[in-house]
Amino acid sequence: MDYFLTEQQKLIKDLARKIAEERILPVRAELDEKEEFPWAIVKDIADSDLFRIFIPEQYEGLGEGLFALCIATEELSRACCGVALTYATDALGTIPILLYGTDEQKQKYLPIIAAGTKLTAFGLTESGAGSDASAMKTTATLDGDDYILNGSKQFITNGGEAELYTIIAITDPTRGTRGASAFLVEKGMPGFTFGKKEQKMGIRASATSELVFHNCRVPRDNLVGREGLGFIVTMKTLDVSRPAVGALSVGLAQGALEAAVAYARERKQFGHPISALQAIQHMLANMAMELEAARALVYAAARTVDSGAKDFTEEGAMAKVFATDMAMKVTTDAVQVFGGVGYMRDYPVEKMMRDAKINQIYEGTNQVLRNVIALQLLKRKALRE
Ligand code: CAA
Repeated sequence: MDYFLTEQQKLIKDLARKIAEERILPVRAELDEKEEFPWAIVKDIADSDLFRIFIPEQYEGLGEGLFALCIATEELSRACCGVALTYATDALGTIPILLYGTDEQKQKYLPIIAAGTKLTAFGLTESGAGSDASAMKTTATLDGDDYILNGSKQFITNGGEAELYTIIAITDPTRGTRGASAFLVEKGMPGFTFGKKEQKMGIRASATSELVFHNCRVPRDNLVGREGLGFIVTMKTLDVSRPAVGALSVGLAQGALEAAVAYARERKQFGHPISALQAIQHMLANMAMELEAARALVYAAARTVDSGAKDFTEEGAMAKVFATDMAMKVTTDAVQVFGGVGYMRDYPVEKMMRDAKINQIYEGTNQVLRNVIALQLLKRKALRE
């Protein structure tokens, strides 16, 4: 398929592919095995200016938008979803500043994020507030010129490794979702520490940690948007970010399809390569069709975000759900094409299948997002508005 990329987008794609093939492929199994955070690769990504893609030019970015970010994410994920997630999550942590940050906050943080020397993260989930995000218990109480944060956040991607965190906390417990606010919290602020580092089924190169706030003083200037806007900041941030989760899944599935095709050509059974069997051919054909459909949907959703459209909740949710379900199926089928060896760690498809699962869960489970899509559909007066 030709997606009519601009010259700049083609350059970004080539650059990300080069890093994926030269720097990620050789070490992905080791990173997975050791659950090691890929700092050396993060530095390569930074040196290649790929962290600048999504940041506006006035803040030392490339101003290329979400579509270009998705292209880079997809290429990195083709080699390793865990490494690519570190990159995509840096964008997730940055979106609140881009959407709702003050000029001062943008001037202070965006050039550093663009340089890629410091990573960001997004802290919403708590042990009692997963899909039900508004059930969060972390509080932020105004005291003079500071807010004092207390509570903890669970399963935070880039947790412990990032320097800057957008944290959602309750400033007014009487107001429900309208009582939440968003804050920029820096690593090293007194009272901010890291708890348990999670051991995961997949995406093991990525760091997932608990964030703990104990009387953590955050300057009032670090409030993002206004008090009470935290839930909207959260929902809008996730609307922008979800196509990137789709891109993670498209890249992951592309890697699995390529591995399955190569193996089907070389593996001989019954006297000829298994690629001669129609059963295998049909599996590969379905994998390729579903993958391309997901890619087209992810690209369309990302381009809708970049178009300046006001509302893209439905597009983002559709891209995320469709692409992540597709990747789970395609990676599972890739293991099936490999047969017994596909289940072993000697081949990459076993890791790809493990990596795929979480994409159906984070940034809104696919069940919650189907509710979101249905709600959008049902509230429209006409189906073709
Ligand atoms: N844009 C703007 N406003 C929105 C919105 C959107 N997309 N979605 C909801 N809102 C507004 C509503 O209009 C409502 O506003 P009012 O109070 O003015 O009426 C307010 O937000 C509350 O909305 P709901 O009543 O729909 O809220 P709810 O409590 O019923 O929750 C939910 C709805 C969809 C289930 C929500 O909680 C949700 O999205 N849950 C999933 C959470 C999630 O995605 N977590 C991911 C964590 S981050 C992560 O995973 C990162 C990682 O590791 C990589």
